Amino acid sequence: MTELTIVVGARPNFMKAAPLIRALAKTHFTLRVLHTGQHYDAGMSDIFLSQLGVGQPDVFLEVGSGRHGEQTARVLEAFEKYLLNAPAVQRGVVVVGDVNSTMACAITAAKLNIPVAHVEAGLRSFDRSMPEEINRIVTDAVSDLLFVSEPSGLSNLDHEGVPASKIHYVGNVMIDSLVHELPIAGQMDIRAVFGLEPHKYALVTLHRPSNVDNVQRSTELLTFFLHVSKELPIVFPMHPRTRKSLSAAGLIEQLSSNPRIKILEPLGYRENLGLMMSAKVVLTDSGGMQEETSYLGIPCLTLRSNTERPITITHGTNTLVGDDLGRAYQEFANILAGVHHQSLPITGWDGHAAERIAKILDTNWSGGSVAWT
Ligand code: UD1
Repeated sequence: MTELTIVVGARPNFMKAAPLIRALAKTHFTLRVLHTGQHYDAGMSDIFLSQLGVGQPDVFLEVGSGRHGEQTARVLEAFEKYLLNAPAVQRGVVVVGDVNSTMACAITAAKLNIPVAHVEAGLRSFDRSMPEEINRIVTDAVSDLLFVSEPSGLSNLDHEGVPASKIHYVGNVMIDSLVHELPIAGQMDIRAVFGLEPHKYALVTLHRPSNVDNVQRSTELLTFFLHVSKELPIVFPMHPRTRKSLSAAGLIEQLSSNPRIKILEPLGYRENLGLMMSAKVVLTDSGGMQEETSYLGIPCLTLRSNTERPITITHGTNTLVGDDLGRAYQEFANILAGVHHQSLPITGWDGHAAERIAKILDTNWSGGSVAWT
């Protein structure tokens, strides 16, 4: 048997890894699931592991939170120890997405000459002030197989001189999870669970440092949400980073005391998907939710000035509203009036991306020839 390790660390990794874990179970590999512990709360980690069927990871590194250098260094050190002491020779390491754990594990494996596969390669916001952009560039630079989810990924990697032989357009594993979980999420009774009328509320999520760690920006966003709430009730599952920053800035009370704004703890995957499916509009700075709303055909206003997922603008329902919250409000009014772009099909966003990846890994790394159906 040939051993393969798949790395998860933070919330957006779990929905990308879950379909890969299912698909890799059909290959010649013995798979080990390693959780770095970057996210550790029940609501940021455990609920995703159980809802998405990942189960308990085989290895848990417990690195926890910290400054970027500190957290990255802890993953480097702990993952190196794991690889050096692993019970079997590692044939490869699979990393997903763009979080600190992704980059740190990719570097560690590459330094030990263990092949690295990066799932969701090639995405670029061209904004190096985003920690994720540095993580994407470094991870792609040290990876041996680069699995791309949207066409921009191909051109970005080509411009960076990555040989075409390393690159595979496979589609989007995030959409695999969405397709898998949709039947259950779709049964959620929004009225009973959240007291909201379907298609008559706005779903808000926010966690980027540029939005939540800057008091002036957070204050402007708060004013925007208060305007929006006059037209539509808001439901706002709050990331721990956002709760901490808004509380420290003394801003959370203005939101939580408003009867039209429901602030919730972070939600599970299915609850969030259920809320997204029935929202009138999603206001977010999440990368994944730009993709999910595009697939679902729900209008999305992205509270950022750039996106590493441009297909969601050309083929999806996403609109970038940047720093101009006057423009954001105008776009919001257009959506209320029923004026917004509709989504078009995107190649490989079909629920089968993970199977395509597993086949390529099986062929390239284990010499396998599993009869795929
Ligand atoms: C990380 C990812 C980001 C991803 C996001 C999704 C990086 C650089 N960023 O950002 O790309 O979109 O996850 O959530 O990897 N905290 C808890 N409990 C937890 C985890 C975090 O309370 O289980 C708090 C801690 O105070 C921590 C803060 O949230 O300091 C930030 O966590 P961290 O993992 O550093 O980054 P995120 O903002 O979550």
